[in-house]
Amino acid sequence: MDKLVISGGHPLHGTVPVSGAKNAALPILIATLVAPGEHRLANVPDLVDVSSMLSLLGRIGCPSLVGAVNRIDTSRVTFCEAPYDLVRKMRASVLALGPLLARCGEAHVSLPGGCAIGMRPIDQHLKGLEALGCTFELEGGYVHGTVDRLRGAHIRFDVATVTGTENVLMAAVLAEGETILENAAAEPEVEDLANFLRSMGAKIEGAGTSRIVIQGVTSLAPAEKPYSILPDRIEAGTYLVAGAITGGDVRCEGANAEDLAPVLSALEAAGCGVERGEGWVRAWRDGPIRAIDLETRPHPGFPTDMQAQFMALLSLAEGSSRVRENIFENRFMHAAELLRLGARIDIDGNLATVHGVEHLSGATVMATDLRASASLVLAGLAARGTTEVLRLYHLDRGYERLEEKLGAIGAQVQRASEGRPAAAPRAAG
Ligand code: EPZ
Repeated sequence: MDKLVISGGHPLHGTVPVSGAKNAALPILIATLVAPGEHRLANVPDLVDVSSMLSLLGRIGCPSLVGAVNRIDTSRVTFCEAPYDLVRKMRASVLALGPLLARCGEAHVSLPGGCAIGMRPIDQHLKGLEALGCTFELEGGYVHGTVDRLRGAHIRFDVATVTGTENVLMAAVLAEGETILENAAAEPEVEDLANFLRSMGAKIEGAGTSRIVIQGVTSLAPAEKPYSILPDRIEAGTYLVAGAITGGDVRCEGANAEDLAPVLSALEAAGCGVERGEGWVRAWRDGPIRAIDLETRPHPGFPTDMQAQFMALLSLAEGSSRVRENIFENRFMHAAELLRLGARIDIDGNLATVHGVEHLSGATVMATDLRASASLVLAGLAARGTTEVLRLYHLDRGYERLEEKLGAIGAQVQRASEGRPAAAPRAAG
């Protein structure tokens, strides 16, 4: 397995190109199933999770060609299943349910199972799809779904779920009649999926808000032009925190300031300078980090996917910060590893109290999930001495060319194999 060796204490300065959003690319890739033909997608990030989703499409009978523009041919579907060996690696494979039911009238999808950050149930996915006329049996660790004809319905989610909203949306576009989704997830990635579906002829209003109205159509066809995936607000937010935690100045090219609004406000509250441009955002810090209180919420609240990164930043603040995680039941795994770097954090249920310390000291730490590993890299960039972050495969799921992008803004990082010592890290360029 790979590890990242970081020599900390170097302020980062420069511009980072933001890649396409992982959490928009994954639903959009599988949504190609609802429109037979050749699809072309631009700005698809080169990530392990994207490769897993392309493998799943290949298993289903839809070959793809990866390049500057990704081509996916969904003319034929030969297999209506998302098998366990793929789903266990990437729980977003559960997004195959809605499109397969809409395309084939059946779907056999392995239950995703839990992960490091929580149980990750799919009861709301099934509730919404059942309202559209689907029936499900759970057997052998799989969800077996069938439907004769999808019919529009008025659905109110009990909890705002991103992939639950996306699964139901991808089926509703081909249902007979009108579907109304209440308490839908309003994340920008849901809106991007809706825009992709509309580019194929779907009739959707209200995506990006908690109320989405869909008029079903009888068929959809691939868009004329390549569809470009929206920029990744979580990747951008992570690099802005890298600039802030090291006392540097980082500009994220291609980022959308509006999608980042709660993250930018939190950076300003924590004592950072922020500049919002057309297609770019910038953050810098030349004074102390201020302690702040944070609560994660569904969009447009502060995103849970940025909580771990901010915990690293606040571990160096003047004073104590309270971080409340309201979305997932076990998303403080990074705290124990931050303690190894010298942070002082008390956990009480879903509340973490972060007592700022003077400095962090390098150590070997273990990544447990995608955003936790990002948090450890950020802490390592600020810590004195060398930090080794093990189990880098977590990071490779969600951050494209991480060490290259960090090296280009002055970070001293080096990827190495866990079995062997790394050469001394060096800044790129
Ligand atoms: C999506 O996960 C993202 N993944 C996650 O990003 C993100 O953290 C999460 O949304 C919240 O924003 C993708 O888009 C691929 P949810 P998702 O369903 O859809 C509960 C990352 O780091 N719930 O919105 O699985 C659930 O337990 C990943 O990029 C139910 O109770 O999250 C959680 O408490 C991590 N029943 C809450 O809702 C359901 O049927 C929100 O989960 C579904 C969800």
